[in-house]
Amino acid sequence: MKMFITGGAGFIGSNFIRYILTKYPHYSVINYDKLTYAGNLENLKDFERYDNYKFIKGDISNQELVDHLVKDCDIIVHFAAESHVDRSVDAPEDFIKTNILGTFTLLEVARKYNIRFHHISTDEVFGDLLLEDPGQFDEKTAYDPSSPYSAAKASSDHLVRAYHRTYGLPITISNCSNNYGPYQFPEKVIPLFVTNLIEGRKVPLYGDGKNVRDWIHVDDHNAGVDAIIHKGKIGETYCLGADSEKSNKDLTMTILNQMGFGEEMIEFVADRLGHDRRYAINSNKAQAELGWKPVISFEEGIRRTVQWYIANEGWWKNIQSGEYRNYKPEEQQPDQKSDFLI
Ligand code: NAD
Ligand code: DAU
Repeated sequence: MKMFITGGAGFIGSNFIRYILTKYPHYSVINYDKLTYAGNLENLKDFERYDNYKFIKGDISNQELVDHLVKDCDIIVHFAAESHVDRSVDAPEDFIKTNILGTFTLLEVARKYNIRFHHISTDEVFGDLLLEDPGQFDEKTAYDPSSPYSAAKASSDHLVRAYHRTYGLPITISNCSNNYGPYQFPEKVIPLFVTNLIEGRKVPLYGDGKNVRDWIHVDDHNAGVDAIIHKGKIGETYCLGADSEKSNKDLTMTILNQMGFGEEMIEFVADRLGHDRRYAINSNKAQAELGWKPVISFEEGIRRTVQWYIANEGWWKNIQSGEYRNYKPEEQQPDQKSDFLI
């Protein structure tokens, strides 16, 4: 299978490429990424000399370049997005451009060649649940996004479904809960808190710390995407999650305990605007239909993740200093050279 993966230099996309090239060494991957602040080629250092892996720098809104590259691909797996809610509150424009217009551009090209399209989405499109509500989101939950980020992701989901209904494009969608694991950009809560603590700084907890997120290890998410790609039914949506609801305060205490700190390292700060109160996702459909299930417990996953950030200080220090933006992959072999390779 030849995969065209967008956003493969980001957190989940780079873990996905590692997962796919390890599990299916006979597959080939084009990693197409604009390298925004969130893209980091150091995430895939160990794959850059593989014959079946190519990185190509580009924007998903560049229709000509995407057209040139995807023609002979079997599937587009679309991770690329502006992904950070706080940034969408401060400056929504790029979220509209990439998440909506960029997805539209990809869909147009996919339609031209009738290429299978898997769209990576989020549980945030469903809005939020009350703390005292025992309910969960599932595939039938109505969309009710709260932030410019989630509204833009919701728009892209609608477009993907419309291209299936209107043009018969072979699509699938996954809506996943909060991911954590290695190579997550240290603006997101877990890597931010862990790296702050390594440096002896306090952790900024928003509002009352009672907001709840439903956590899944990135490898479990990617195993779910793999299952959908290979066994999912065309036109269907699958919710992915690992039944690991934690309040932000409890999550913070878990990290503090693992790193040998106490509650005094918490600094309560002003709340996020429009802050979603609780997410919880029901993944029964994916588990029943795809034979997939998450296998990494929250406790084990967090322990491994904390250890990873401790062991890979150079990776996140390069991000803090901005040095990661100067990283150049090793020279490709002459036969692998392409006008588009950087
Ligand atoms: P990320 O911010 O770490 O990575 C996004 C990647 O997309 C970066 O490499 C960036 O350079 C690239 N990109 C951004 N704009 C682009 C453009 N216009 N053209 C090409 N590339 C572009 O994000 P992530 O956390 O890895 O999330 C990946 C996907 O998964 C997103 O679609 C997000 O909505 C979805 N998702 C994330 C989570 C989570 O918890 N992080 C949960 C569910 C779904
Ligand atoms: O639910 C899936 C979503 O999870 C993805 O679609 C998004 O791309 C991803 O960024 C993530 O969104 P969140 O807003 O839930 O993640 P974040 O790590 O930004 O925040 C998690 C929780 O922690 C949230 O309730 C806000 C809180 N928080 C966050 C930061 C950065 C803090 O209390 N302090 C902080 O400094």
